[in-house]
Amino acid sequence: MKAIIPAAGLGTRFLPVTRVVPKEMLPIGAKPALELIVDEARAAGADEIVIVISEGKELIRKYFEGQPDIRFVYQKEQKGLGHAVLQAEIDDDALILLGDALVIGCCAAKEMVEVSKRHGGAAVIGCERVPKEKVSRYGIMKLEGDRIVDMVEKPAVEEAPSDIAVAGRYLLPAAIFGYLKTQTPGKGGEIQLTDAIKRMLAERDAYAYVYPGKRQDIGNPDGYFAALEAYRGNS
Ligand code: UTP
Repeated sequence: MKAIIPAAGLGTRFLPVTRVVPKEMLPIGAKPALELIVDEARAAGADEIVIVISEGKELIRKYFEGQPDIRFVYQKEQKGLGHAVLQAEIDDDALILLGDALVIGCCAAKEMVEVSKRHGGAAVIGCERVPKEKVSRYGIMKLEGDRIVDMVEKPAVEEAPSDIAVAGRYLLPAAIFGYLKTQTPGKGGEIQLTDAIKRMLAERDAYAYVYPGKRQDIGNPDGYFAALEAYRGNS
């Protein structure tokens, strides 16, 4: 299994520091956040880790250069998460870990690999439960048991099919790359990973797994402070 860590985003919610320091390289204790994510991918059994970066984020490359099994690819234009994943050019099952999403308190990726095995190698999407009044900020799952029927992007509270949200980790079969290659731009004019997964759902089973850890979005200062506190409380 291979892992892809998209880390090519512009980081506009974390300006001005992201003009020179990629948000993924902000320290969590003595390690950059991204290294904790690389550790998670390795613990899940990834034998190659592809980090997607963009021009100006060479600090990432510099830090990890020389570490075994890590490869870098560039996303030249920020055309969305789906587009970033496609740049990895792999043709294998892929574990996708968002470069600005830390999971503290469990190894989400490793647990997702186990869940996938129990479902005969099916796709698994890492999820978290969110407060009902906040569903409109997330991609929300429509489920039958733990099988995903549909995913609804940022629904109104009264239209949300559940309180279970997509949370930064995906274990997807190689087939996802076929869907991504033909994916047209969606919300924000970007190639959305969610749109490609939704098309995949029509032909393949996928399962939601609510991992026991807490997801921390370090893409903005408030989330970063929360991540530091959670990490300290956990270590
Ligand atoms: P985000 O939307 O949270 O990151 O994408 P962003 O685009 O950097 O955020 P803002 O809005 O400018 O602050 C989630 C993850 O996907 C990556 C980001 O680096 C982040 O890890 N991403 C997003 C890409 O690699 N390429 C893209 O085109 C978009």
